[in-house]
Amino acid sequence: MKILGIESSCDETGIAIYDTKAGLIADQLYSQIELHAQYGGVVPELASRDHVRKIVPLIQQTCDEAGLTLKDLDAVAYTAGPGLVGALLVGACVGKSIAWALDKPAVEVHHMEGHLLAPLLEDDKPEFPFLCLLVSGGHTLLVDVQALGSYKILGDTLDDAAGEAFDKTAKLLGLPYPGGRYIAALAEQGDEKRFKFPRPMLNRPGLDFSFSGLKTATRMTWEKHIVTCSNDAEKNQLQADVAASFQAAVIETLAKKCLRAIEQTGHQQLVVSGGVSANTSLRETLAQMGEVHHFKSFFPSMKYCTDNGAMIAVAGAMRFQHKDIKPHNLIKAYPRWSLEQLS
Ligand code: KG4
Ligand code: ZN
Repeated sequence: MKILGIESSCDETGIAIYDTKAGLIADQLYSQIELHAQYGGVVPELASRDHVRKIVPLIQQTCDEAGLTLKDLDAVAYTAGPGLVGALLVGACVGKSIAWALDKPAVEVHHMEGHLLAPLLEDDKPEFPFLCLLVSGGHTLLVDVQALGSYKILGDTLDDAAGEAFDKTAKLLGLPYPGGRYIAALAEQGDEKRFKFPRPMLNRPGLDFSFSGLKTATRMTWEKHIVTCSNDAEKNQLQADVAASFQAAVIETLAKKCLRAIEQTGHQQLVVSGGVSANTSLRETLAQMGEVHHFKSFFPSMKYCTDNGAMIAVAGAMRFQHKDIKPHNLIKAYPRWSLEQLS
């Protein structure tokens, strides 16, 4: 079966075709980052309008890449939430309309379930059950995954998501949006031991996260030291040291909470997904921790960490096989939607 996947929940238009026998056969991505960078964050109305402009040509390109026409598809899957409502509605309207015109099933996909299943696109893939750390621009979740659709949230963020904390710190340091990868690159030149930032919530039991205290500590340190820099070299070193110290605090917090959850649940597989899973230092830390504590970590390949159509196509294919199909006469988007509601 061939499933078209459509992702439009935020600032990426992602289209892919997943074949349940051959795997991923086409995958196209258009990123709006340049459009939003000048505003320092995503402007929802501009995002919706750009999805409208790009989505149909991108679907055509994806079909061309696969050497297929729309008539060859068996189902259409699209991100129905969570995300920006206007952006979601673009994908939902286009996805439902194509499905209706072809008289084929339409499948609603939860964006975070897409991230959670993205490592299944790899050759070395996890098997149910597993523990999952979802770290994106909007979410920081530890999820006990028993099977497709059986999700128990063990830990959530009380304030900012991990990616959001990276982005806000990048903005503070004068780096472009979205700043996670710029912090990561800068951190390689910095001294992570220069500033000992708080490791949020590690001294308390439980698996929740909080990044607002770390954000404040980072801002106060930056503001205190930047005024003492007398030249560009000093300023650049301070910037790199703050980035490295901040990143070390986030990664140690995420990794230790993962270990706590592994010990609590007894899982031996850890799936890490979402934009922040592209962070090389996080990947290395968890891989090393797994060697010592006997669990194996799985990550999507770099291009499937951040938003993409491939993860929606594979999640859609699995949902389709579970007969999770919605009638054509109802076009819905769910800006807020908990993973646990899928159970
Ligand atoms: O999953 P994603 O594309 O979007 C959401 O669903 O939110 O994640 C985007 C987030 C952004 O906050 C971005 O700064 C962060 O992922 N990110 C990174 C890295 N690459 C992307 N954070 C840390 N290190 C990276 N290398
Ligand atoms: Zn995402």
